[in-house]
Amino acid sequence: MRKLLPAMFSRDVCGDLPPLARIICVGRQDCCQEDFLNTVSTTSKPHIKSPAVTAENWERFTKRIVYVSLNATESGTYAPLVEALRADPAITRVYYLATPPHLFAQICDNLKENGLATPNSRVVLEKPLGRDLASAKQINAEVGEVFSESQIYRIDHYLGKETVQNLLALRFGNILFEPLWRREWISDVQITIAEKLGVGNRIGYYDTSGALRDMLQNHLLQLLCIVAMEPPTSIAPDAVRDAKLQVLRSLKRFTPTTLAQNIVRGQYRAGHVDGKPVPSYRDEPDAPQHSRTETFVAMKAEIDTWRWAGVPFYLRTGKRMADSLAEIVVRFKQIPHSIFNQPTSSFQPNSLVIRLQPDEGLRMNLMAKTPGEGMRLKPAELELDFRETFKMPRMDAYERLLLDVLRGQLTLFMRGDELEAAWEWVEPILNNWEQDDSAPLPYSSGTWGPAAASALIGRDGLQWREEALPED
Ligand code: BG6
Repeated sequence: MRKLLPAMFSRDVCGDLPPLARIICVGRQDCCQEDFLNTVSTTSKPHIKSPAVTAENWERFTKRIVYVSLNATESGTYAPLVEALRADPAITRVYYLATPPHLFAQICDNLKENGLATPNSRVVLEKPLGRDLASAKQINAEVGEVFSESQIYRIDHYLGKETVQNLLALRFGNILFEPLWRREWISDVQITIAEKLGVGNRIGYYDTSGALRDMLQNHLLQLLCIVAMEPPTSIAPDAVRDAKLQVLRSLKRFTPTTLAQNIVRGQYRAGHVDGKPVPSYRDEPDAPQHSRTETFVAMKAEIDTWRWAGVPFYLRTGKRMADSLAEIVVRFKQIPHSIFNQPTSSFQPNSLVIRLQPDEGLRMNLMAKTPGEGMRLKPAELELDFRETFKMPRMDAYERLLLDVLRGQLTLFMRGDELEAAWEWVEPILNNWEQDDSAPLPYSSGTWGPAAASALIGRDGLQWREEALPED
């Protein structure tokens, strides 16, 4: 209601849905078509950002919608879906499983049993794609018994974000960066996804998940892959996914000792966000009083390859942070010698900031001469604001990814082996935390997380970007 239908609506308005495309919404509730469309109108419509919600557009869109009620776990109840799909068995079918992962296998089996898993069907899997390596392997194996790998679309909506794809354009559509994109010239990389939001009404899911599973295992690692991968030979799905897989497999494994030194986990306490008081995680509705679930993780990761050996990748994500932002900061090394009348230490090393949200853009920090007499250098910025530069309607990540599914383009979806490699790397951390009795470090809502996160990067003589920025 919140993401998928609004995304389909926007694409419909832009003429991207084939004239005969239908959207079959499947649920357990026994509800008539009219009531369902009313629910769509009251629940889904308010989430459409596009100004194109005219009566005409809305009517054309809702004519595509069919509601079907069945019990996903009982094959015998699938008859209405079989009926709804009977019209043209050769047509492309996309089964979008926005369900808990323990239902994936059973739904796929039931689709097969009812003759619905046709060769031109595709299945989309929404995260969480497992909660550890074993469950991810099980999902891959069970779904793989019904659908071939080229029919499976594992969605990570971060890959649908415009700036993430622009990072591919930046790296491989320009000659400038690639020669410098290595340990000889880059000192460190920071990747942050910070949210002001708390856990909201998702405590049931979140408390059994935590920030490591919810954000780091998927979104942050996918961003890291795009930053660190070797140039793929083409943009073809397997070329890109092979390159990402290589990064995941080259991530240095944590041992209990290195893990304690290089990972900080935190949990938010009461505080203020945007000047408003917000409760502690443990006081959120239905939260367990003694929950040890982390709402913040910061870590220093390393990639054991010739290109990246010794370059720290600092990853950080948290809820109830001081700001909502997602960005990648690539910092270059300091100049080797100053020819000016100012010491090398007064030169701010060049950095490239890739902003995913809230605004989308690229910023290159350089040193430039201050106007006037003499030769004083100061930091200055080259900025590329995507909204300003490309005055074109934007596509939300789900719009882009859904369209890719309809068109059979797999590049921005994770392959099964990538998923397993990511879990394999994360698993020692999960196991260690499970055996460890200590609780995550508390941090006040509306801050940048526990002080230990600053100490983690401070140990290497560095700062998180917002700490390094001069006060306005
Ligand atoms: C989801 C997580 O995958 O991503 C949420 O489950 C998180 O906890 C969300 O809030 C963040 O996505 P975005 O696009 O709003 O940054």
